[in-house]
Amino acid sequence: MADSSLPIVRDVAGLRAQISAWRGQGLRVGLVPTMGALHDGHLSLVRAAKEKCDRAVATLFVNPKQFAPNEDFERYPRDEAGDGAMLASAGCDLLYAPERTIMYPDGFATSVIVTSVSTPLEGEFRPHFFGGVATVVTKLLLQALPDAAFFGEKDYQQLQVIKRMAGDLDIPVAIEGCATVRESDGLAMSSRNAYLSADERRIAARLNHILHDAIKAVHAGEPIAQAEAEAARHLSAAGFTSIDYVAIRDAQTLQPVTDSSRPARILAAAWLGKTRLIDNMAV
Ligand code: PAJ
Repeated sequence: MADSSLPIVRDVAGLRAQISAWRGQGLRVGLVPTMGALHDGHLSLVRAAKEKCDRAVATLFVNPKQFAPNEDFERYPRDEAGDGAMLASAGCDLLYAPERTIMYPDGFATSVIVTSVSTPLEGEFRPHFFGGVATVVTKLLLQALPDAAFFGEKDYQQLQVIKRMAGDLDIPVAIEGCATVRESDGLAMSSRNAYLSADERRIAARLNHILHDAIKAVHAGEPIAQAEAEAARHLSAAGFTSIDYVAIRDAQTLQPVTDSSRPARILAAAWLGKTRLIDNMAV
């Protein structure tokens, strides 16, 4: 990392020393957890952290506990030097990039399991996923003890799970959600977009438009179940090879909508070949 001015720490003592020094000076510290392969969506979180706090700390750790054995842990894109340069350009003040043995030393035996909000949607199709996320985010929050931590609405259910977890465990960190950053054709930025072929990339851009159309149909009076089914049909017709779900849910609990006066969210997960894409928006 000789080409970046961004300081890096790799252990908990180094992380805590810097953050407690800043907080001791009365500075507010914002944390931005990531798995790297950064893009403008991640950098928007760093910018939000710098707006709301005085110092921004990014974390970079590809968390093995949130990948199932058949998922893409091994091929997940890794580029620490490139990520460091991008973080520095966005105004990040410190990068925490722990080795696996720092996060999960021999004998590590604890999991953080959030029920209810974790159960539907992603929880159904990736049953191991939110346990891995809640465990690593709990550790990162307790290791860093920042004032606030910033997460993207791109991973909407993850954001709700983390809010629930931090609240339930009295972790004294404000959890801030930030809007999804999109490419010019509306595709939500994602590290996994790098897996798409040119053909798949063209089809991928249909996802957000199909969700928009479903929202319009609901606003025009179409029943929720019908709008969901039609959106799934449109995704298949567009070339998505498999649809895990298209669902309109309560925006906080992710349960089926029973009270139409509460905010709702449309969420979808669909495959293009070997690549799984997710997106969501307010209804
Ligand atoms: P990762 O996929 O690297 O995402 C890190 C953060 O960036 C998450 O909060 C995610 O929601 C946000 N993000 C990703 N794409 C975005 C976009 N297009 N617009 C806005 N924000 C976006 O999510 C994870 O890592 C991991 O699960 C993690 C929370 C780090 C735990 O391992």
